[in-house]
Amino acid sequence: MNQSIPTKKPRVAILISGRGSNMMSLVEAAKTSGYPAEIALVIANRPEAPGLEWAKAQGLPTLGMDHKLYENRAHFDGQLTGVLQTAKIDLIALAGFMRLLTEDFVTTWRDRLINIHPSLLPSFKGLNTHQRALDAGCKVAGCSVHFVRSKMDVGPIIAQAAVPVHADDSADTLAARVLEAEHKIYPNALAMVASGRAKVIGEQVKIADAINQHMTLFSPKLP
Ligand code: GRF
Repeated sequence: MNQSIPTKKPRVAILISGRGSNMMSLVEAAKTSGYPAEIALVIANRPEAPGLEWAKAQGLPTLGMDHKLYENRAHFDGQLTGVLQTAKIDLIALAGFMRLLTEDFVTTWRDRLINIHPSLLPSFKGLNTHQRALDAGCKVAGCSVHFVRSKMDVGPIIAQAAVPVHADDSADTLAARVLEAEHKIYPNALAMVASGRAKVIGEQVKIADAINQHMTLFSPKLP
């Protein structure tokens, strides 16, 4: 008889700093049956982050860790690793977590730490991505989910989505279009990592049985 052995879902911690709309998309996805990860903890480095209140109201374990109360970056990151290990966290998803992480932290969580960035990496690392895409005259913009390495917004790419740039876009209208795509690809990317389908091999992500499932193209309508 072919009996499947029940396996435990990886426990995910989501780290936020603000409104947490990407965190919400991960939490909602994880509620659906068959989703291969459990959201076990939401942490904010700004205790007043609106996203933390939302997570609390969902009945999720939450923690505000005010980074200003720690001696330095290494102290904060060390305590953070302690909290995550005590909570038996397997994977970390950064979702608008506006803090650089130390090399030690990134090494400890190597290939178990992912981030979403609002550009088509490796273009437009850092801040103000939408205005910079407009200033460069880009005709497409988008977002990327990637494994975290010690350099900012660098690391093996798991999933990307492209969206059109409209002639009359402002940074805000473009940001809203990209954000909608972020909410689609982040839950998919986390699922691929949590289920073991997405693996880092030679600093690139290989996806098992994927026929372009890691890429969503929102094509502009042709005339
Ligand atoms: C998103 O655009 C994300 O890509 C970037 O910061 C923003 C956070 O938004 N890293 P939210 O807090 O998830 O709504």
